Amino acid sequence: MKTILYVDDEREIREIVTLEIEGRLDVIINEAESGESAIKYLKEHISEIDLIICDYDMPNGNGDSVYEYLTQFRNVEKENIQIPFILFSSRDLDEIQESMPGFPNKKIDSHLQKPTNVKRLMSLIEEMLAKGSGTGTGIGTSTARAKIPMKATISTQPTQPTQPTQPITNASANASIRDIKYCKININRLLNIDNSICDIFRKENDDSYQIIFETDTVLDSSLILKLKEDGIEYLFIKEIEFSFFCDFYARQLQSKLESQDINNEARIDQELDGTMFIADIMVNLGLNPTVIKTAESILKSNLAITKQCKDFFSFLQKMKFNKNYIYEHSLMISYLSNLLATEISWSNSSILQKLSMSALLHDIVFENKNHAKIMVLNKETIAENKLSKNDVAKIFKHPIDISSMVKQIKNMPPDVDQIILDHHERPDAQGFPKQISAEKIHPLSCLFIISEEVVNQLYNDFEDNIQNISINQVQIVLEKISPLYNIGNYQQMFAGLCKLFSYKK
Ligand SMILES: [Fe+2]
Ligand SMILES: [Fe+2]
Repeated sequence: MKTILYVDDEREIREIVTLEIEGRLDVIINEAESGESAIKYLKEHISEIDLIICDYDMPNGNGDSVYEYLTQFRNVEKENIQIPFILFSSRDLDEIQESMPGFPNKKIDSHLQKPTNVKRLMSLIEEMLAKGSGTGTGIGTSTARAKIPMKATISTQPTQPTQPTQPITNASANASIRDIKYCKININRLLNIDNSICDIFRKENDDSYQIIFETDTVLDSSLILKLKEDGIEYLFIKEIEFSFFCDFYARQLQSKLESQDINNEARIDQELDGTMFIADIMVNLGLNPTVIKTAESILKSNLAITKQCKDFFSFLQKMKFNKNYIYEHSLMISYLSNLLATEISWSNSSILQKLSMSALLHDIVFENKNHAKIMVLNKETIAENKLSKNDVAKIFKHPIDISSMVKQIKNMPPDVDQIILDHHERPDAQGFPKQISAEKIHPLSCLFIISEEVVNQLYNDFEDNIQNISINQVQIVLEKISPLYNIGNYQQMFAGLCKLFSYKK
């Protein structure tokens, strides 16, 4: 996987651009907020970077300082590192060239003026990654999103890595076989399993995979840890064996989620059971690794359902409703937010995972389902729900409390704590706990918030017949929330919802 260093002092722009890139391309983005912090990062990690996208005007070190460092590094170290550099600035090219002589005349460099459309940015990133040789692999034509499963083909253009691949002690045959598809598995998964039930590979580049563990061998944890130290986040399994591996892993995690060959209805039922089980553990033991493992099992199952239930209504029809708002609305948000993310082309599995994880955990401290139904805290909702001072305090604090619990969890997907912290914010800045406006809110939080708003409204208005809800009823809800949500960072999400439910604004 390619790694991009993205330097911009404006957090909101960084977040939006990062989401757009990660949602569309199979890359990892590291962010820096100034030229100084980018250079500091590059001093230690330059060999890991495949592309730099850099703003020009920043408080602590402009974009040219980063570009200069890159040039000096090449001159001093005489390394064959040609990291492409995209200057992504609101300044035009003439102004840039005055400050940065020689830029952008070098063939590896480019400039893109803000604002730009996403398509242009993506195609420039693809072009630059293909040209560069930061890690010497080249991205070729394999930059499209949804790279799982990936198609491995024999490389036609051998490349020259700047860092030799670390030898793996028990590595054997190179698995560069035409037409084999691979799926990735987080390397941490393997630390919970004693034996390998299938061949497990390390990805050398887009075209070549090297076997690390053969079927029925002991999964040597010291080797796995060594790979992790080397920066390997994912290992790979042949697509044909991947679901077998996932099923095996799920059985190890939670017996309730282990069944195979079950229909979606039974699967959703099990997910609901699993969600309740999580709440049971929470009440007794707090947010511990068992909760997270169970949630991960549910998420995998959830993603499988997302692929099969193409619309919200067939999902609802398969779900059994027992007026357990906390669990039921969590699953509904998980599913709707995944559908919406896919609709706006944020179908990256890590984004879907973040949304589902947030959905499963966001209200987990509530025992009173009515408290979870309260979206905003004001005089009316306090009176209507007869809330005591303690109730108000608990409701106000739950995003903060759950978010800080989630932060402590090792290996929790990034942004989950942020989404949970923000889930009661509102576009008119009347939400809680931070009263964040529609312009300042994290885009992934927007997506989650609007999904929960729709679910909450549907549940309130049509609770008795929610399983058989119609598209007209969803459109009524969209009509209702339109004045509030069709603004700021929420606009893109609202437009996605309108498309999803054929609603004309
Ligand atoms: Fe909620
Ligand atoms: Fe909540």
